[in-house]
Amino acid sequence: MIKIVMLSLLLYSNFLFSNEGEKVYEKRCASCHKLYIAPSILLENFMEKNNTVLHLTAPTINQIVFRLKSRIGDPKGDEDIHKMEIDSFIADYLINPDKSKSVCLPKVIRHFKTMPSLKGKISVEEIEAVSDFLWAYNLTDFVAKKLKFVAYKKAVEIAQKEHKIIIIKLTREHCHFCTKMDREVFSDKEIIEALDKNFIVVEVDIGKETPPLGLKIGMTPTFIFVDEKEKIMAKIPGAWTKQDFLGILKEAVKAKGDKK
Ligand code: HEC
Repeated sequence: MIKIVMLSLLLYSNFLFSNEGEKVYEKRCASCHKLYIAPSILLENFMEKNNTVLHLTAPTINQIVFRLKSRIGDPKGDEDIHKMEIDSFIADYLINPDKSKSVCLPKVIRHFKTMPSLKGKISVEEIEAVSDFLWAYNLTDFVAKKLKFVAYKKAVEIAQKEHKIIIIKLTREHCHFCTKMDREVFSDKEIIEALDKNFIVVEVDIGKETPPLGLKIGMTPTFIFVDEKEKIMAKIPGAWTKQDFLGILKEAVKAKGDKK
């Protein structure tokens, strides 16, 4: 009996994790906490520019997760215990927010008002789900570090030197399927390895930047494959599953090989 209860709890929490956590974030947290801003930009904003670049009113989720994981509990200890420690910090913070408990840097936190308590506004299940969502979020952060920081010009240089294919990944803010792909596809080990071997990814936020090569595309995500001579090989719109995207990457490598 106990086993069955535990199993169903486990399944239940997995279910919440995969579906509900992000929804809870979108419904209860996204109005204040942006999901992701590149660490280099955050650093410049808070350490050099007094928050005058981003004008943030709350820390971003990638900031919070990074700080929680390094400041709460024992980061080098048992992973399950570490997660429980972070879960309980979050559960407490949502009900009893208090800047004196903050894990953020003083130079960051001083720009914000204390978070309003969510007491009575968020259920225990929602707290667990959003906490799972935050815990899993580091993957995206890792991938972002690895994949997002090449500017187009630099990518062309690398592509020519290392005979790689450039993928221009067109995204925009609040693009649900971009985030979904970041989390489910671009955080996958096989995908990362495949990208690492044959590709260079350039991410362009079409709401903020003009895409290279005069590209005029409104749909996000869209993936533009470009060869080392800056010729467009393919334009692939839409969100893809891991298997499909791996297939697309293989096709691109094959197409490049065929041309030689
Ligand atoms: C009305 C705006 C608002 C909403 C909604 C909100 N937060 Fe916050 N949150 C803030 C602000 C501002 C801070 C920074 C000041 C502070 O720590 O109290 C913060 C800080 C935090 C911190 C602590 C970071 C630290 O300083 O150590 C966590 C964790 C957190 N929020 C999680 C969440 C989660 C999860 C949700 C959704 C369930 C949420 N917040 C909803 C505004 C908000």
